[in-house]
Amino acid sequence: MPFAKTAVVTGGAGFIGSHVVDRLVDDGYRVTVIDDLSSGKRENLPPGVTLVVADVTLDAAADAIRSAAPELIVHAAAQISVSVSTRKPLQDARINVLGTVNVLEAARASGTKKFVFFSSGGTVYGQPEDLPVSESQQTAPENPYGTSKLASEEYLEMYRRAFGFESTILRLANIYGPRQDPHGEAGVVAIFALAMLAGNQITIFGDGNDERDYVYVSDVVDAVMAAAAPGGPHRCNIGSGMSTNVNELCTRLSALTGYALKPQYGPPRPGDIHAISLDATLARIELGWTPKVDLETGLARTVEFFRHQADSQT
Ligand SMILES: NC(=O)c1ccc[n+]([C@@H]2O[C@H](COP(=O)([O-])OP(=O)(O)OC[C@H]3O[C@@H](n4cnc5c(N)ncnc54)[C@H](O)[C@@H]3O)[C@@H](O)[C@H]2O)c1
Repeated sequence: MPFAKTAVVTGGAGFIGSHVVDRLVDDGYRVTVIDDLSSGKRENLPPGVTLVVADVTLDAAADAIRSAAPELIVHAAAQISVSVSTRKPLQDARINVLGTVNVLEAARASGTKKFVFFSSGGTVYGQPEDLPVSESQQTAPENPYGTSKLASEEYLEMYRRAFGFESTILRLANIYGPRQDPHGEAGVVAIFALAMLAGNQITIFGDGNDERDYVYVSDVVDAVMAAAAPGGPHRCNIGSGMSTNVNELCTRLSALTGYALKPQYGPPRPGDIHAISLDATLARIELGWTPKVDLETGLARTVEFFRHQADSQT
């Protein structure tokens, strides 16, 4: 049976991207993934997906987009760590800004109808005075990662004005769930869950009172599918509007994993803000999106995933 719809997912072998790929395949899309496998894994991909191993900043990625000629592009490939961005701002800008421009230009040349971009609601606003923050509030990133995401957003807005190229920017909160990389410097739920299950000492950077807005990965996939339709908002927050501090997160994960050690505390990380939560009223009105998975359920599912993974490796 011929495929009715085609999609390219950059970063599709990674955490959020691979969940998006699963849903697109279930919905009958022919999917091409472009990923350099720097943190993504082949085994995250379902059968039937074409994987092009390429860096999104290079011609090979643009060629793959032109030959797939997708109706939909979900651009998830990125340098994702705030800490890395503060240490290596040039590397962050190369992947996040030049990578986006390369993918975007290939998308335009291929007649792509909709481009969905993952921006960062946790960094583009900096430290807002009023929480939860809405899209109408000023952006003021306090680290290179937030700035590279905002620069990419500006390219998308310019492509809309100059070329009528349609996109939706999803400003994501802190996303967690199965397949998140527990070995990097981003993704506190995965990092804590894996360390706790292994009985290793965990470290909280700062005093543990920093607050984040946690959203389970399947809720992001719902937002992507809603954003894939024609029209929709130019940019919107994807968050729960609620915030949880790191100490509380640690307590909840300790209970789920049976972890008995006390966390140790380290110096705060440069570029980290104190508190963020996102007002997703616009997503509710324009995409019909609200988060469905509460924190307790999502954390339990995530811990089960890492427990199962650890068991199958022993
Ligand atoms: N996880 C979160 O909490 C969160 C929050 C806000 C925004 N985002 C954004 O969502 C997207 C996906 O993040 P994730 O959490 O799934 O991270 P991830 O690291 O699991 O996924 C990123 C994927 O991109 C690939 N990649 C990295 N550099 C590449 C390059 N130069 N060329 C090709 N592929 C490359 C990696 O191999 C990986 O598979 C990113 O754009 C990230 O900035 C994530």
